[in-house]
Amino acid sequence: MPQEPVQAAAQPAQQRLPRHVAIIMDGNGRWANKKNLPRYMGHREGVKAVRRVVEACRERGIEALTLFAFSSENWRRPKKEVSLLMDLFVHTLQKEVDRLDRNGVRMRFIGDRSVFDPKLRVLMDAAEKQTAHNDKLTLVIAVNYGGRWDVAEAAKRLASRVVAGELSLDEIDSDALGRELCIADLPEPDLFIRTGGEQRVSNYLLWQLAYTELYFTDLLWPDFNDAAFDEALRSFAGRQRRFGQTGEQVEEQSRRA
Ligand code: IPE
Ligand code: IPE
Ligand code: MG
Repeated sequence: MPQEPVQAAAQPAQQRLPRHVAIIMDGNGRWANKKNLPRYMGHREGVKAVRRVVEACRERGIEALTLFAFSSENWRRPKKEVSLLMDLFVHTLQKEVDRLDRNGVRMRFIGDRSVFDPKLRVLMDAAEKQTAHNDKLTLVIAVNYGGRWDVAEAAKRLASRVVAGELSLDEIDSDALGRELCIADLPEPDLFIRTGGEQRVSNYLLWQLAYTELYFTDLLWPDFNDAAFDEALRSFAGRQRRFGQTGEQVEEQSRRA
């Protein structure tokens, strides 16, 4: 039997707010290049944009925000840039977690963290523990994350349950696999934003983006501000999410709601 639509689009357009926004924060390097600064300065400026968008989500009542901070492919960058990014990550966690906690933000990290420096791993674990009880906004940071890795890990977990005799092959379907993925407990992303002008997904939440509305902007990530975010939200609010149904069916459902 076909699945129910993930979410009914019953609210009037001007009120329709995504519950979960997923962002690829791209363009830090180009922002710095344009100003004749080292790429690292672009990443530093990018942290300010992160602060802004977290606050904006909180103010607007968005439940979850997932940010791509470092992809499993970003290890291919020059060693120096990778190491500066790791330092910035450590520094930012040390500086920001208390404030995020006070503001009711629950922090989560997704990705393979086994390869990180122990210092960074301790900071990530501590941030998750410290903020676990918060409920204003769930902030998910994807680090050393890849969508293919996520799906492969989920498959591995299912396979190990089959081997252990806890699960039969027939019980493996897309719902079962989906439940094993990162952030399966959160609503699926409603709105995907990529800054920096590229129109690609770059191995981000491949499975989770199946029905997400995609929004691309040429703005470089450090320039992304509240006005730009609101423009993305407006674009989202004006879209009709059909989840395979016809436009007429969706309209009929909103009339009845
Ligand atoms: C995104 O900005 C940040 C990371 C990938 C860590 P980039 O560093 O990719 O910036 P551009 O694409 O080179 O401008
Ligand atoms: C994607 O940006 C990853 C992050 C923003 C962390 P990239 O700049 O690395 O993506 P590609 O390689 O240009 O697709
Ligand atoms: Mg880039």
